[in-house]
Amino acid sequence: MADLAELVPRIAATMAARTARGRVANYIPDLAKVSASHFGMVVITADGREHAAGDADLAFSIQSISKVFALVEALASHGEGVWQRVGREPSGGAFNSIVQLEAEAGRPRNPFINAGAIAVTDLITDGDDPRAGAGRILRLLRDLAGTQGIAVDGAVAYSEAATGHRNAALAHFMKAHGVLTGRVEATLSTYFHQCAIAMSCRELARAGRFLMNGGVDPASGRRVVSPEQARRINALMLTCGHYDASGDFAFSVGLPAKSGVGGGILAIAPGRASIAVWSPGLSPQGNSLLGTAALEELASAMGWSVF
Ligand code: DON
Repeated sequence: MADLAELVPRIAATMAARTARGRVANYIPDLAKVSASHFGMVVITADGREHAAGDADLAFSIQSISKVFALVEALASHGEGVWQRVGREPSGGAFNSIVQLEAEAGRPRNPFINAGAIAVTDLITDGDDPRAGAGRILRLLRDLAGTQGIAVDGAVAYSEAATGHRNAALAHFMKAHGVLTGRVEATLSTYFHQCAIAMSCRELARAGRFLMNGGVDPASGRRVVSPEQARRINALMLTCGHYDASGDFAFSVGLPAKSGVGGGILAIAPGRASIAVWSPGLSPQGNSLLGTAALEELASAMGWSVF
């Protein structure tokens, strides 16, 4: 097995030198301002050691990675009721697709496509205060990462709200089917704010530690989710975390992971490590190109694939 102290900087150096870096998301105008040249990586192992390289401490927009933590909050307040609203099947479609909703009575396939995430966020939205739900996610992330320095990037939230017509369409369609129960505008506002949370690879890898550790945050001893819920969240990350590239990601990396269009990926090697990578250039399916390549190298060198 490779030595992480040597491996992590070596992977970062390889990625820094790559010229084919993918395309930075531009459908949310503020995300297009970020340079594709960034690469950061942090690996935290079960014994608490942290291995960091590149832009490990630069904050980026976590976008869809927030959907994992929204699910944790919804499970905390609504338990198994979450699964009445949203399924557990890969969609095989784009993250923002609407087609399945019409054929499937407005019930989204899983909590990680946009429709499913909006349905989950609806559960934690306080009808009178669009910021309350995002505040719950923010408090969870600050607690797990051990820092108060994590915040919503207001410009990104505004940028997404101003252009988020597809998400509004998904939300209204689900509302028409009774899948959303709250005020659509408040749910969307909560969703846009949670997606606009900015944090670094180091903070994200710290926040993910409970998922490698059966649901308990090893830093504080706090139980975040039950062992069964931790297993299930990892299962959903593996099968649905990369949308219509989830099969390919399982094939090449073999770890539960959740991507975001900001270019971040949180990956979990159960019992072994919590890993965060960031590189803003994306594949056509909206997943970090170099982030995926780095995780493939890491998982292969360490023998960490779950298969
Ligand atoms: O709703 C959206 O489109 C974005 N806020 C999040 C999408 C996303 O991150 C997809 N992930 N790769």
